[in-house]
Amino acid sequence: MVNILNVYDSVYGNTKEIAEYFDKHLQRKEHAVVTADVKDVREELIQKADFFVLGCPTHFWRPSKDMARFISKIFRLRVHEKYALVYDTHLHNLFSGSASGKMARMLFSLKFKMLNKGEGFIVEGTKGPLRLGEVHKVEMLAARVVSYLGGLDMENLHTPGFVL
Ligand SMILES: Cc1cc2nc3c(=O)[nH]c(=O)nc-3n(C[C@H](O)[C@H](O)[C@H](O)COP(=O)(O)O)c2cc1C
Repeated sequence: MVNILNVYDSVYGNTKEIAEYFDKHLQRKEHAVVTADVKDVREELIQKADFFVLGCPTHFWRPSKDMARFISKIFRLRVHEKYALVYDTHLHNLFSGSASGKMARMLFSLKFKMLNKGEGFIVEGTKGPLRLGEVHKVEMLAARVVSYLGGLDMENLHTPGFVL
């Protein structure tokens, strides 16, 4: 059993929508998936997670403040050497930048095994909506996570199931 903690931050609901798609596509009998707003995640869940899926809006070329705080909290709790996939939402223009590459580097410094270097989902404007077809990328990424977890030695993933 792998405990997947699917955490999002979202001001206007677009990143939340992506997180909900991840939740839908990651749900499997053999894994426990908890999806939560970054502001509501209890420490206990962080401690018990084997695999983190983290998503947030890009704010000033960086991860949103609450997501940056959350990653710092992972650091403070000395949670490291786990698995993660990260993504952001951002505009599509010359100055847009992307938060997820920075998130990946932050987690990599905690010796996380990263399944990607960051994925971006495009919004049409600051308040959205998501560009048509963007959500379909979730299915592909979730399939990558599931197939990766299928190849892991589950005996080495020590944590018992999430307490919801
Ligand atoms: C304060 C603020 C700063 C932003 N900075 C950027 C930025 O640097 N690059 C970018 O592409 N989008 C930027 N945006 C647009 C956000 O990426 C967009 O609002 C977000 O993806 C929408 O996701 P949400 O509905 O989950 O909040 C910014 C938005 C806000 C509110």
